[in-house]
Amino acid sequence: MQRKQEMMTIVAQKQLAPRIFQLDLQGELVKEMTRPGQFVHIKVPRADLLLRRPISINQIDHSNETCRLIYRVEGSGTEVFATMKAGEQLDILGPLGNGFDVTTVAAGQTAFIVGGGIGIPPLYELSKQLNEKGVKVIHFLGYASKEVAYYQQEFMALGETHFATDDGSFGAHGNVGRLLSEVLAKGRIPDAVYACGANGMLKAIDYLFPTHPHVYLSLEERMACGIGACYACVCHKKGDTTGAKSVKVCDEGPIFKASEVIL
Ligand code: FES
Repeated sequence: MQRKQEMMTIVAQKQLAPRIFQLDLQGELVKEMTRPGQFVHIKVPRADLLLRRPISINQIDHSNETCRLIYRVEGSGTEVFATMKAGEQLDILGPLGNGFDVTTVAAGQTAFIVGGGIGIPPLYELSKQLNEKGVKVIHFLGYASKEVAYYQQEFMALGETHFATDDGSFGAHGNVGRLLSEVLAKGRIPDAVYACGANGMLKAIDYLFPTHPHVYLSLEERMACGIGACYACVCHKKGDTTGAKSVKVCDEGPIFKASEVIL
């Protein structure tokens, strides 16, 4: 796997929910995409917007050399992406980040996959790859409301899926931490836990699995360079009494074991 920069071609773009878009890109760079949980860094095609935008890879299709990204419109950069059409090109740097470690679970074992909001997209490729290995996946997905929920059918096609919404308009009322607690209370203990979402959700998982050796968290940090050069994305290490030891989320992450980092 090698990091590359390429002008990739948009083959399709579709809106999934208010402010949530699905973007399919084609190019040779897809050959370098293997591990789920990695991201690409996209140049905004507007001269006044200098910083690239990091967006996680939702799925990889090596046979067609395409990948899918799902993103939420958050500001001027992603607003520009949302106006783009099939046939146009984007300057893509990637794949970046370490990706989820899928080697720790074997066929017949169980993985909990936990996602919240715009942290959900990279978990789809992860679940697909674990399925291919024969791992039993159980999804726990949380959204703000039914209106902004997406990809429910896709996850359900891969395994048991539990949903929660903050306002109770779809699935259980509350957050995914509550869903997880209920399942754990029934004695269902996973062999691995993979999660991506806001810091509060990751903290809840850290709290629920204090000694589990295979809990992997994908951190959402603000990024600038995306390649480990600027230190805009550091977080601190657990067990460091000096407070001076840090890791770079873009380069050494975005995925860390829960035991490694302070959330
Ligand atoms: Fe520059 Fe992580 S974004 S070091």
